[in-house]
Amino acid sequence: MATTKRIGVLTGGGDAPGLNAVIRAVVKAALNQGIECLGIPDSYDGLLEVERPYPLTHKSVTGILRMGGTILGTVNRGDPFKEPVRTSEGERDYAERCMEILRRLELDAVIAIGGDGTLTLSHRFYTMGMPVIGVPKTIDNDIVGTVNTFGFDTAVDFASASIDRLHTTAAAHRRIMIIEVMGRYAGWIALHAGVSGGADVILIPEIPYDVEKVTRTIRARDEFGARFSIVVVAEGAKPIGGTPVVQKAAHGQYAERLGGVGHTLAARLEELTNKEARVAVLGHLQRGGTPTSYDRVLATRFGARAVELAVRGQFGKMVASHPPDIVPVSLSEVVGKTKTVPLEHDLLHTARAIGIAFGD
Ligand code: F6P
Repeated sequence: MATTKRIGVLTGGGDAPGLNAVIRAVVKAALNQGIECLGIPDSYDGLLEVERPYPLTHKSVTGILRMGGTILGTVNRGDPFKEPVRTSEGERDYAERCMEILRRLELDAVIAIGGDGTLTLSHRFYTMGMPVIGVPKTIDNDIVGTVNTFGFDTAVDFASASIDRLHTTAAAHRRIMIIEVMGRYAGWIALHAGVSGGADVILIPEIPYDVEKVTRTIRARDEFGARFSIVVVAEGAKPIGGTPVVQKAAHGQYAERLGGVGHTLAARLEELTNKEARVAVLGHLQRGGTPTSYDRVLATRFGARAVELAVRGQFGKMVASHPPDIVPVSLSEVVGKTKTVPLEHDLLHTARAIGIAFGD
């Protein structure tokens, strides 16, 4: 087995609390085995110029465990393979340029921390010969092949605390409070935050909703005297026969930007219930802040295992959480897919058992 002397690490896609914990674990695990570590800034764009990657030392990662964001920077866009790219040495094919710089830097491995987009890119690079290992990252928890991703627990924790705060104002005004959460086309954040925060209605993309049925739930609460309702809606939720509310259509390398379903729903519910409704869109607040202890531990485990896989030469893999273990799964099995909430999921069953409505 070839000796691993130098590892590059990059972060791609939307940021998530815990990214820096992964970077820190990669650097510490590598340096503790006498392996050099290079930080590749701004996802794979950092491999377009030989000068951009830079050494990461123990000092580089001191104090970052608890920091949100990523010290390496990231970009969140679609497929950079589509168009040629301008470099200091003229226009180049994006993928070929990255492979050339990888060789010039004499990198024995690349650890790519990202969501489905970054993992998909990494798999394509792997098929071109890049010694890459993926680390699944997203607050959405929608990556196939891993039970959970770091960032998710922190996002749910923040959303749950936000719902707690909104309960009091909803009760005071006897209003419908609608909390729109992230998650793209999966309802994991909405489901967990809704149960944790005591929502009365949870709307997720996997269960298209009937606004008349939501109305009936709200009216029933009024009848037994609650007189306020908490509705948690995932940004990708849609009415039966409808489509998600899009803030900005897909353009160029950028996917459609979801957002706005909360306000659309509020308008309809005000009409149907004759009650006041207000909306809180949590947005990127779910992506910021310090990672929870759970996410710090998961991220640290991911980072250390990724270095082990690199040393063993197990490339084309992603580290995955299969509690209680962290195991390698092939990137080919996970890319291009979305892990949505199965309709038979146990937490859905529990939520319904305690009377949470899903608009169906
Ligand atoms: O994938 C994580 C995520 O936060 C989604 O939940 C959300 O729809 C998207 O990223 C927002 O992306 P951006 O930060 O590029 O607007």
